[in-house]
Amino acid sequence: MKPTMIACLAAGLMATSFGAAAQTAPTHVRSWAAGCANCHGTNGQAQPGMAALAGAPAAATVAKMQAFKSGALPATLMHQIAKGYSDEQIQAIAAYFAAQKN
Ligand code: HEC
Repeated sequence: MKPTMIACLAAGLMATSFGAAAQTAPTHVRSWAAGCANCHGTNGQAQPGMAALAGAPAAATVAKMQAFKSGALPATLMHQIAKGYSDEQIQAIAAYFAAQKN
């Protein structure tokens, strides 16, 4: 292998690991959270008029999701959506959004 190729490979690997460091959440958690983006905005940064999830304390998001799941909190859509996620998934999603800038 030529030295220039090795340098390119090394640069590529470094770029990959820096990218991974910037995106701290594992891919599967980011995929779950992406399912919320249609309505709550990319990374939970909502358009005006919609509840932003970005920066919301994880405990608050978990509590609301659990209340949607049980039906305790009135909703048009979130009852169905919340039921699609396990408690562990909800905790991971809530932690992901809590770490996003609002
Ligand atoms: C199809 C659109 C849609 C999607 C997708 C969606 N939501 Fe919602 N969300 C809503 C609507 C609408 C409300 C207001 C309550 C209602 O009517 O259901 C809401 C409310 C909420 C609230 C309460 C906000 C507040 O401050 O009162 C939370 C928390 C929430 N959603 C979390 C999530 C999470 C987490 C996901 C992804 C797993 C998600 N939502 C996906 C439409 C959506």
